[in-house]
Amino acid sequence: MASAASSLKAASGNDRFNDEAAKWDSNPFVHEASKHALKAIVAKFPALRQPPGETGLDVLEIGCGTGLLSSIMAPYAKRIVAVDAAPGMIDVLKAKLQKPDAPRNITPVAVLLEDPEDKSLPPQDEREPDGRRRKFDLITSHLVLHHIPDLKGVLTTMLGCLKSNGWVALTDFEDYGPEAKAFHAQAKMGGVERHGTNADAMEKLMNEVGFVNVRVVRAWSMDKSVEKYEGEFGSAGKPTQPGQGEIRSFPFVLCMGEKKYCQP
Ligand SMILES: C[S@@+](CC[C@H](N)C(=O)[O-])C[C@H]1O[C@@H](n2cnc3c(N)ncnc32)[C@H](O)[C@@H]1O
Repeated sequence: MASAASSLKAASGNDRFNDEAAKWDSNPFVHEASKHALKAIVAKFPALRQPPGETGLDVLEIGCGTGLLSSIMAPYAKRIVAVDAAPGMIDVLKAKLQKPDAPRNITPVAVLLEDPEDKSLPPQDEREPDGRRRKFDLITSHLVLHHIPDLKGVLTTMLGCLKSNGWVALTDFEDYGPEAKAFHAQAKMGGVERHGTNADAMEKLMNEVGFVNVRVVRAWSMDKSVEKYEGEFGSAGKPTQPGQGEIRSFPFVLCMGEKKYCQP
């Protein structure tokens, strides 16, 4: 169950993402970032390289937003459960899934996932709706880790959501030093817990939590228009006048870890 403190934290982050949900998909950067994430993940998980059929992967995306990554991964996965703590983001995803050409194998869920047995997740067995929840072959989470107050808690939840020998493949911009702070404009700092994911710290934490075969690799870089000084973009959080901002390149990490085999 969510603690009072974490619910409060989530609520403050939620406000920002609920407010931004309707316009989220109008930002080309988030589309491009999701395409990079898919490419990086597919390169490491060959099972995602062909249309899946019944043998395909059961995927959970945590912090799916409007479903950008889930939507482009869907043709290569068996099924995807896409969860986000901001109901506004999930409403946008639900509306997109109503369209005739939308993927049919995505289940959107509005939840701050802190319990692998959360009843809002689909059941393992449809005939036992109140029984154990579905377990996954692969968990993705893209541009989310830097928003999570309790990283150890969320990694533990992820471990509990995986099948034996299932994997996490988590992507985020890298905390490569003080310059990573520029990734977010001053007006977009709401819900930002840290300035990216630090590769060494993440590798250590994933091992501590109990993942095996942990690897955190730099997977791609992206150019982003950032403030030349804090607050330059004002409340818009992006350039609105000629000459504002400057382009910087940000590295992204892919954090992989396996749940070791456990007796069913
Ligand atoms: C920067 S957005 C990224 C959304 C999406 N992955 C994308 O790339 O377009 C971060 C998202 O993570 C969600 N989020 C943050 N913490 C979360 C948590 N503990 N559980 C589920 N979602 C969370 C927020 O609601 C927000 O929609």
